[in-house]
Amino acid sequence: MEPLSQHGPAQFSLLHVSDTHLLGAGKKLYTVIDAEERLVELLHRVRTSEHDVRAVVFTGDLADLGEPDAYERLRDAVEPVVQQMGASLIWVMGNHDERPAFSEVLLRQPGSTDPLDAVYDIDGLRLIVLDTSVPGYHHGELRPGQLEWLGDLLATPAPLGSLVALHHPPIPTPVEIMGVLELQDQQALWDVVEGSDVRGILGGHLHYSTHTSYRGVPVSVAAALCYNLDLVATEGTALRGVHSAHTGSLVSIYPDQVVFSELPAQELEEVFLRSSEGVEQVRQMSLAERHEVLSKKTSDYNTAERKRESGS
Ligand SMILES: [Fe+2]
Ligand SMILES: [Fe+2]
Repeated sequence: MEPLSQHGPAQFSLLHVSDTHLLGAGKKLYTVIDAEERLVELLHRVRTSEHDVRAVVFTGDLADLGEPDAYERLRDAVEPVVQQMGASLIWVMGNHDERPAFSEVLLRQPGSTDPLDAVYDIDGLRLIVLDTSVPGYHHGELRPGQLEWLGDLLATPAPLGSLVALHHPPIPTPVEIMGVLELQDQQALWDVVEGSDVRGILGGHLHYSTHTSYRGVPVSVAAALCYNLDLVATEGTALRGVHSAHTGSLVSIYPDQVVFSELPAQELEEVFLRSSEGVEQVRQMSLAERHEVLSKKTSDYNTAERKRESGS
């Protein structure tokens, strides 16, 4: 039996979530945004899906004001579900976070004021966490010691390569004013990453989903789980935050590629549904039969589909 695609299935996946900006005492951000509810819904949807998620990565700005109570709410909402998924839970610092409360509550370590860098092994995939936060500021920086640490790590390749997770992504933004709060000296980071086994960089901070690649390495920024920026705001508007686009990102690990796909946190309006029983039938077919049934525009299947789509 031939696989359905020349690529075969993903080896496994990661769930990438960013910018929850939770407030203490369950208060809603801008009085209307309940990111905790969205997060619980997203985790539930992913847990009950068919994706083999081995790690859940949060790329920073987890508590809007760095309140210990907000971290506790986050931890208590996330830890049990991630445990049920059998996945690793990875927390990354953002500019809204405060290291002492973050490390005590989320990492269950003594409160620290040092950068909270870390490295995880996800079944052969090395996930490197870089803390780009600067205490008391919103822009991002990496200290020379952090880059040296990263370089030392990358000197030895990992079996499935590496992903770097950080809050301030080392990429340009079309939202001009966000440039002020970007990661400083991004070229220094790229100089360390280039030519290493890094297969991708996961980031947050921008509050919209965006992707690029630089020096051969893809960068994927997950949208925020609280509010996001409207990139087509009218002239004369520098920033417009909207209560929408609550999404996570599915990071699928293939032998030779890493693929990023947006996952809506909420149940959305359904317009069609196909059961997976049909997939089993297709699996039994030869490649030629699959093309005759699914690809040929005039096949019985596609003719019926066309009628349904056009409402005729
Ligand atoms: Fe943020
Ligand atoms: Fe941020």
